[in-house]
Amino acid sequence: MNEKKLVLTAINAKETAYAPYSEFYVGAALLCSDGTVFTGCNIENISYSATVCAERTAFFKAVSEGKREFSAIAIAGGKKGESIFAYPCGVCRQVMAEFCKGNFKVIVVKSAEEYEVYSLSELIPKSFDF
Ligand code: THU
Repeated sequence: MNEKKLVLTAINAKETAYAPYSEFYVGAALLCSDGTVFTGCNIENISYSATVCAERTAFFKAVSEGKREFSAIAIAGGKKGESIFAYPCGVCRQVMAEFCKGNFKVIVVKSAEEYEVYSLSELIPKSFDF
């Protein structure tokens, strides 16, 4: 799947976000090295800390289906009718670092026409390792 299609898939994945508390809706589309794509959305909880982000939903879906190699993720987030660059939180960056190399592509989407592409090593340099 190409970059643009992954971007559109992330925008579409926002539709199923469950975010009644923040009303901030996030969609993610994770491209595996074998070409398959897993989507994710944020899923909030009344006990706020039980909330899970869209990126982690996508990763956990993929990993639980046996995927271990990934090439890119697109992330689209915003309130209703709003589009902003929603950068992945620190916890999601750490999860990405668990499964991906530094050249994994993180695409932060404002709209179908406007998105930024980062490498994982730019977003989480010197991540924990031992
Ligand atoms: N959120 C994500 O889905 N991904 C991120 O990387 C940052 C934040 C969600 C969590 C919560 O449901 C809402 O956005 C507001 O923080």
